[in-house]
Amino acid sequence: MSVTVVVGGQYGDEGKGKIISYLALHDKPDVIARGGGGPNAGHSVEHGSKKYSIRLVPSGFVNQQSKLAIGAGVLVDAGVFLREVETFGLGSRCIIDRRATLITQEMKDADAASETAKKIGTTKTGMGPAQAARASRTAPTVESEPRLKKYLGDVPALVNSAKNVLVEGSQGFMLSNLYGTYPFVTSKDVSASTICAEVGLGPRSVKDVIMVIKAYTTRVGSGPMPGELSVADAEKRGMQEYGTVTGRPRRTNPDLIWDELRFSAQVNSASFIALTKLDVKFPACAKKKEYDELPLEAKNFVKQIENEVGVKVGLIGTGPDADDIIDRREQDE
Ligand code: GTP
Ligand code: IMP
Ligand code: MG
Repeated sequence: MSVTVVVGGQYGDEGKGKIISYLALHDKPDVIARGGGGPNAGHSVEHGSKKYSIRLVPSGFVNQQSKLAIGAGVLVDAGVFLREVETFGLGSRCIIDRRATLITQEMKDADAASETAKKIGTTKTGMGPAQAARASRTAPTVESEPRLKKYLGDVPALVNSAKNVLVEGSQGFMLSNLYGTYPFVTSKDVSASTICAEVGLGPRSVKDVIMVIKAYTTRVGSGPMPGELSVADAEKRGMQEYGTVTGRPRRTNPDLIWDELRFSAQVNSASFIALTKLDVKFPACAKKKEYDELPLEAKNFVKQIENEVGVKVGLIGTGPDADDIIDRREQDE
């Protein structure tokens, strides 16, 4: 059995969707299982001429052969799930663990209305109230929603009997409820161990943990953001981004925050870094597929990351498409 886990190493929106879609197409996992938050996540995947925006189903769905699963730890919004299944034509390919929590309209309303949620700048998707209800043992599970009945299954049984499993995390380590910039965080831990537990995998089953980081730092919502650029300055550098779920402008720091990345690599036990948007920082990298084709300053940046964080940069994003990537996981230094 071979399990690869993908997590975010910064504040979410590192480009996990793109890295996961590449791994799904290239490593051909038989099962792709989603752990982490719920519909607060927003992943963008571009493949061929198509662009997809995804919140709940695994971003790896672009591999038509893989079975798809949503783990017990994920908070499920039935409307979001059913819309994605229909839009992406997933039919019976996707199961939800029958133990997962169901987000209700009341939870979404509470998330939109609460003063704490406003202070944090949540996504208003009901995450905090749903997680609190689960902890209080008052939350409904997905079994109480008749429209989901045909999608319910046993995700631990599926992932533990598969040969090759890709596990998708969501959000980023600095938004972890335990290790992030508390209280400006999401409602749960989002590190690799928790993501695995959420889909029913134990620590000994994992082969690789891929920590995705972007070549600069962005954050959406409140909380500390040292070195923050104005929107105009971020635009000038081509780094200004907008949230996929809420449409809010993301806050930008043009640099990497080394102590946070080291901490993230440590707690996630990262075996590789996947570095995205190297072409945004160094435009001459656009669409390159070989490391040797990168300009010297970009190679030096990659080396600096490896030295500072102490983890090999195994994947490098050089453009928006799933295939715009340098895969040097197997290459020696
Ligand atoms: P996650 O939440 O981590 O999945 O990131 P995200 O999908 O939320 O980020 P966003 O919605 O901002 O989408 C990222 C966009 O950047 C998508 O259109 C991707 O195709 C694109 N992208 C990802 N990696 C790269 C890269 O290496 N270079 C460029 N130019 N674009 C990229
Ligand atoms: P919540 O998860 O909706 O409760 O939001 C808590 C904080 O996490 C807010 O600052 C959100 O902007 C942030 N957040 C939650 N999910 C994501 C994500 O997928 N990407 C980026 N930020 C997120
Ligand atoms: Mg995102």
